[in-house]
Amino acid sequence: MKRIALKLIPGDGIGVDVIHEGVRILKTLENIDGGVSFDLQELPWGCHYYLGNNEMMPKDGLTILAECDSILLGAVGFPGVPDHVSLRGLLLPIRQEFDQYVNMRPITLLDGLDSPLAIAHPSDVDFVVFRENSEGEYCGIGRTDNEGTPEETVVQEAHFSRKGTERIIRYAFDYARGHGETRLISATKSNALNYSMVFWDTVFNAVREDYLDVESRSMHVDALAGFFIMRPQDIDVVVASNLFGDILTDLGSAMLGSIGISPSANINPERTYPSMFEPIHGSAPDIAGKGIANPVGTVWSIVLMLDHLGLTELSNLLYGAMKKVLAERAVRTPDLGGTSRTEAMTDAIIDVMNSKTV
Ligand code: NAD
Ligand code: IPM
Ligand code: MN
Repeated sequence: MKRIALKLIPGDGIGVDVIHEGVRILKTLENIDGGVSFDLQELPWGCHYYLGNNEMMPKDGLTILAECDSILLGAVGFPGVPDHVSLRGLLLPIRQEFDQYVNMRPITLLDGLDSPLAIAHPSDVDFVVFRENSEGEYCGIGRTDNEGTPEETVVQEAHFSRKGTERIIRYAFDYARGHGETRLISATKSNALNYSMVFWDTVFNAVREDYLDVESRSMHVDALAGFFIMRPQDIDVVVASNLFGDILTDLGSAMLGSIGISPSANINPERTYPSMFEPIHGSAPDIAGKGIANPVGTVWSIVLMLDHLGLTELSNLLYGAMKKVLAERAVRTPDLGGTSRTEAMTDAIIDVMNSKTV
């Protein structure tokens, strides 16, 4: 029996709903496979925990998390705890301390998803964004001067190291080369950000010399956002800083018809630490507790996790079932224009897997 230790952090709001669905998916995969067992440990960390403990996770939280094969996270943040407190207390420390410097976010318009864009073919939206996930605009350093006076000024720093910039750009190029993707775009803003993005461009231009088989170029992120909408068919791989990648991927998921669709993998490529998988969406307080959250972002994140764990057959089985349910259009949560509830969507995916009709 292959035992896989997973730590689950449902977190807040719909994070709890979608991780509940994720557990049902994992149990189904266990039953179908027979040779794999997922040892699940659910951790009650998040905003509720904060209200009782004045911290988002225990002091030894990262030590607890380090002892597993992968982490599956729902979402963090809820009204009552300021977002910068909740996210700096739970999600961001995991990404940064576990050196999960690659945030891979595929944006693929699967059959059955209705893009708000008037594009001809689903295959027109099929690309992957590699977001720098360990530093940059998210380094968390800054200060307030002259607080409470008319001269009050805040400084928010962005730290770009050569190592940090080069490794994410190389990762994106290696992915492009390894997956037969011929075009790569680097998101910049060096016309305005005269230190950070000029540096990013310098590193990008040096690295691209090693990948002359991949057609690569830089685009200012504002123009690139427009390009996402106007020419998505011309995009294969995007590499972006932490903040730019964050914004571009919510835009990307919206191009698929819902923020609730896209998955993300926070990867520590060296495997010194566990990697973490989570949907790109947040805790959606507006629909929390209503049982209507779309579980697909989480299901797809589990697909990426299974791949990372080398469980390729199970990953393919789940991905196939998820695609089939979307393509059939019979079961759809309200964000996709349907009336189905969260569990119904998972039930449908589970049924397809059990019936082995993928
Ligand atoms: P959000 O992604 O939570 O919600 C944006 C909109 O998308 C809402 O209308 C919501 O109902 C909808 N939506 C999101 N996921 C959905 C799903 N699975 N199914 C159906 N509809 C869905 O973004 P927000 O409102 O900016 O953030 C809410 C909270 O979540 C904040 O505290 C924020 O900091 C946090 N957040 C956490 C993460 C994370 O933990 N990874 C990511 C983003 C935001
Ligand atoms: C995401 C989220 C987080 C981010 C927030 C909640 C800190 O938006 O995972 O995309 O900006 O990385
Ligand atoms: Mn985001």
